[in-house]
Amino acid sequence: MSNLEIRPIRRLDAEFSVPGDKSISHRGIMLGGLAAGTTRLRGFLPGEDCLSTLHALQALGCRVDRVAPDEVLIEGRGAKLLAPAEPIDCGNSGTTMRLLSGVVAGFPFTTRLFGDASLTRRPMGRIAEPLRQFGAEILCEGSGDRPPLTIRGTQLRAIDFTSKVASAQVKSCILLAALQASGKTTFREPILSRDHTERLLPAFGASFRTEKQTLILHGPQRLEGTELDVPGDFSSAAFWMVLAAGLPGARLTLRRVGLNPTRTALISALLRMGAGLVEMVEQPSPEPMGTISVQGGSPLKPTTVSGKEIPNLIDEIPILAVAAALAKGTTEIRDAAELRHKESDRLAVVTKNLRLFGVPVEERPDGLLIEGGCSLIGAEVESHGDHRIAMSAAILGLLAKGRTLVKDTACIETSYPGFAKQIGLLQEAGR
Ligand code: S3P
Repeated sequence: MSNLEIRPIRRLDAEFSVPGDKSISHRGIMLGGLAAGTTRLRGFLPGEDCLSTLHALQALGCRVDRVAPDEVLIEGRGAKLLAPAEPIDCGNSGTTMRLLSGVVAGFPFTTRLFGDASLTRRPMGRIAEPLRQFGAEILCEGSGDRPPLTIRGTQLRAIDFTSKVASAQVKSCILLAALQASGKTTFREPILSRDHTERLLPAFGASFRTEKQTLILHGPQRLEGTELDVPGDFSSAAFWMVLAAGLPGARLTLRRVGLNPTRTALISALLRMGAGLVEMVEQPSPEPMGTISVQGGSPLKPTTVSGKEIPNLIDEIPILAVAAALAKGTTEIRDAAELRHKESDRLAVVTKNLRLFGVPVEERPDGLLIEGGCSLIGAEVESHGDHRIAMSAAILGLLAKGRTLVKDTACIETSYPGFAKQIGLLQEAGR
C-alpha cells in the first residue's frame, strides 16, 4: 500500500501548471468516439479515471492513438459503435459509468458496466430512470440502484425530464442519449451544474438551445471530429490555492487553469475568507482558461457555503474544509448531502480526518461546522480510497506541525498523476 509522508513547509514561491481537466477529458473522448472522423485532445488528463473512459471507447470499436501522454487522437465511429466483447471496467470513475450509459443506450446491443468497490456503492437510479424513459432497458444489478449496470440499448425516443439533483453527470448522460434519440429532448436541473458538455457540443457540430434554464436538443444529430485544448483542472489547482492562501509569505502562480464559472465557486469562497487571490481569464472559449495568482498570509476568516454555490464547488469541499480549519471562527457548509455519494462519504471522512489534526468539527446530515484557528498537529490519516481526501490531507500536513502520514494514496492517480512529485518539489524548496 502506498503512503505519503509529509513534513510542514515554511516557504512557497512557485509557478507551475496542473494536469488536464478530468471532466473535459472524459467528454472529449466520448464525443470524439461518437463523432465521424478524428478528434485530437491536447492537454488530455492521463489519470486512471480518464483512461477508463479511453479503454471503454476502444472496447466499443474506436481506434485511439496516444501520441503523447497528454495528447490523444480518437478515430470516431459516427453512429456505429460496436458491441463490446466483454463487460467494461469503469474503475473508480462515476463519470465514466454515468456518461457512458448515455452513450451506449442508443445502440442496438447490450453493455455491462462495472467498477471497483467504491463505484459499486454509488447510486445509479439518477441515470437509470431517464434512460428507461428514453426506451433503453437498464438493470442495476447491485442492491438498491447500485452497479454493475446492464444496458440493453435501442432506438431512443426523446424525453422531457426534470432532474431532482444538480448533477452534471446526469445532465451529460441525458444529453449524450438525446443526441441519438429521435425528437425533442427537454432537460431541467434545480441549480446549474458544470456546463462542459454544453460548451463542447458546438465544437463537435451539435446544436441545442437554452430557454429559461431549460436545455432543448433535437435528435438525432451527427457529430464531427474536432481539435480541443484541455485546460488544467481547476479541482487540482484548488489544492495549491488553499496551500498558498494559508501559508504566510507564499507566492503562487498557476498557469493555463480552467476557469469555467460553473466550477470556480471556491474562488468566491476564498475571497470572502480574505485570501489574497487573483484570477485572470486569458482565453474565453470554448472553455475559459487563464492564470490564478495567490499571495499567502492574510489571516483567513470563516464563511458560509450553501445553496447555489454547492454544485459549483462540490469537488472542492474537502480542500475548502482545510481553509476553514485555518480560519479563526466557525465555517458552515450546508446543502451538501451529495457529498455522501462521492468516492467516499466525504462529510463523514472529512470530519474524521480534520479531528485527527486537532480541528473541532460537527458533522451534520447535509454539511459541516468547522471550528478553525486551533493549532494543527500532524496526524496519521486514511485516504478511504478517495483521491480528493488524500490530497486534502496532504495539504493539511504541509500546514500542520510535525509529521503527517497519509495512508493508501494510490487513489490520487485517478485524477492527479504527479501530485506526490509536486509535493516533493515544494517540500524540497520550502524547507
Ligand atoms: C462531474 C460532475 C460532478 C463531480 C464529478 C465530475 C462531471 O458529479 O462531482 O467529480 O464530470 O460531470 P455529479 O454530477 O455527481 O455532481
